[in-house]
Amino acid sequence: MKTISVQTGGKLYIAGEYAILTPGQTAIIKNIPIYMTAQVREARTIHLFSDMFDAGADMTPNSDYSLIQQTIKTLAACLGKSLEALPAFDLRITGKMERDGKKFGIGSSGSVTVLTLKALSAFYDLNLSANTIFKLASYTLLKMGDNGSMGDIACITYEDLVAFTSFDRQKVASWIATESIQEVLAKDWGYRIDILKPALACDFLVGWTRQPSISKDMICLVKSAITPDFLKDTQNQVLICQEALQTGDKDVIKTSLQKVSDLLLGLSPAIYNDTLKTLKAAEEGLDVIAKSSGSGGGDCGIALSFNQTDTKTLIKRWEDAGIVLLDLEELA
Ligand code: PMV
Ligand code: MG
Repeated sequence: MKTISVQTGGKLYIAGEYAILTPGQTAIIKNIPIYMTAQVREARTIHLFSDMFDAGADMTPNSDYSLIQQTIKTLAACLGKSLEALPAFDLRITGKMERDGKKFGIGSSGSVTVLTLKALSAFYDLNLSANTIFKLASYTLLKMGDNGSMGDIACITYEDLVAFTSFDRQKVASWIATESIQEVLAKDWGYRIDILKPALACDFLVGWTRQPSISKDMICLVKSAITPDFLKDTQNQVLICQEALQTGDKDVIKTSLQKVSDLLLGLSPAIYNDTLKTLKAAEEGLDVIAKSSGSGGGDCGIALSFNQTDTKTLIKRWEDAGIVLLDLEELA
């Protein structure tokens, strides 16, 4: 019996976090090559297993598996089929993005939705486009009451460096409540996902604080501090940074990322915790720009380094501070 295997990678925000929660704002998000795997094969009844949990599940309501179960229901509804009418399968998900029981914070609780959709698209030979997978995953998460921007889903679905412009999630949620899934999927939700091709060589580094942070809780904590000025200033700098990445303007990349970092620092003291402050301060005197990534309060920070010797110095400074290098890649 054939087993199909698919993967999804991680993601990290480069710029635009928190602002992206407001429709029409833009964020730059980078794919991270650390993967989760799903294996799917024919079975007599639906069986689910994820190495996040001790036990497997079927389609009986189960809080551990509710997101995977809802994703399967979304796909069946989209195909206009009942669960019973779909050939059954065994779905096995492995590759927790964590070490010593601490999550990296490069995936998201939502990324398992994308992985499940990719697995079933392959299993049923549906050839779903990245755009359809993005909509189906977002549909599922909105239905589950997720409070995120879906920027993570955009990046993980496209597996690339993207500029994501967010859609009005309340509006789409109201369509979901009143219209058929086919109608909702056929509509223009008003988002944009643009793949960015950076035009200069630099090192991209990920520093892991080893302090798990829960985005959902951070959003609740920080959201009320978001002001129109924060949104306007962040959007300005994100667009400047996007342009500078594509034209290869190092100085502008650095100044724009410094400004979005300062804006996050001013938004809430919860974002830059002590380790993230250290992660950023390690750029001092180097041809490097570092910042917190995503919701902050722990998880990861990122850096761009424009000089290979400085890359080594930065890594050493991070190591000395107990910050773990999770990823080092050449951008462009
Ligand atoms: O911490 P992360 O990588 O999950 O990023 C969260 C980014 C926020 O803008 C704070 C929330 C969101 O869903 O966009
Ligand atoms: Mg996070």
